[in-house]
Amino acid sequence: MNFNEEMASLASQVEAYLEGYFERLLETSEKSLIQSMRYSVMAGGKRIRPVLVLAVAKVLDVGTKEILPFAAAIEMIHTYSLIHDDLPAMDDDEYRRGKLTNHMVYGQALAILAGDALLNEALELLMKNALDARDKMKNALAAAYIVANAAGKDGMIAGQVIDMESEGKTIEAETLKRMHRKKTGALLKASVLAPAVYASAPDQILNALTEYADSIGIAFQIKDDILDVESSTEALGKSVGSDARNHKTTYVSLFGLEKAKMLLHEVTQNAVSTLLPFGEKAWFLKETAQYIASRIN
Ligand code: IPE
Ligand code: IPE
Ligand code: MG
Ligand code: MG
Ligand code: MG
Repeated sequence: MNFNEEMASLASQVEAYLEGYFERLLETSEKSLIQSMRYSVMAGGKRIRPVLVLAVAKVLDVGTKEILPFAAAIEMIHTYSLIHDDLPAMDDDEYRRGKLTNHMVYGQALAILAGDALLNEALELLMKNALDARDKMKNALAAAYIVANAAGKDGMIAGQVIDMESEGKTIEAETLKRMHRKKTGALLKASVLAPAVYASAPDQILNALTEYADSIGIAFQIKDDILDVESSTEALGKSVGSDARNHKTTYVSLFGLEKAKMLLHEVTQNAVSTLLPFGEKAWFLKETAQYIASRIN
């Protein structure tokens, strides 16, 4: 299989799991809420985080079926963060994943609640999964903790706060990096480390994967900043020019396009080099790092 085929295959397994999941929820829970949650989750998206979960699990010989709840939970948390990120009180954007943003369709109140419910659902799924994991309960809980911690006040949410507080200001390069590490890097890192912890990977492997994840986390947001300037709404499926309109501090606003691209290249090279100890087994993770830097959406 080549990279595109493997990516499509892993993403489709996640899609199928999520599709079934929300289908069941529609039958049991408040329809308007589930419809709003499902609208954003099933709107598409690259599924890079859940794909990473499945890919790392594969490298470490964990079965896909066992690890899918982690992949789905992380995608739910990511989707909630996008719904809230697009709200008028935050980035005030109208398009996401090629469709109108959640609040444009369902109104702000339901969009806020759908985001809340997605975060809650992710945690319920992780806890239920741990309860059902029998002899792997401790591993499942340790991996779930990594996800919850990455999403919270020291991770993604902290990053969004730094992002908000940096609007219209010139910040230190170190602060910008910290912001990227948290707002985007944290959940990507959890996508790599949760399956590794679940697999009881030894420290040496955890350390290499941690460095890999740190690098792709920064790379992912640098590229996101570049695309906001260089791409189009049609290609991206989300509003472009949002950062400039909101006076955001980004890698592009602080360093300029050329230097941002150079830094992106550097961190990508670093990500690739961290995988050397894994050899051929990590081919897909290596190509994922390159994909993150070269993606067009
Ligand atoms: C966008 O994430 C928000 C960031 C954290 C940069 P993605 O680019 O992964 O968005 P989707 O999931 O493909 O829509
Ligand atoms: C948002 O960063 C990151 C999170 C949602 C946590 P951005 O605001 O740059 O993401 P986009 O560009 O709207 O996808
Ligand atoms: Mg934002
Ligand atoms: Mg945004
Ligand atoms: Mg952006």
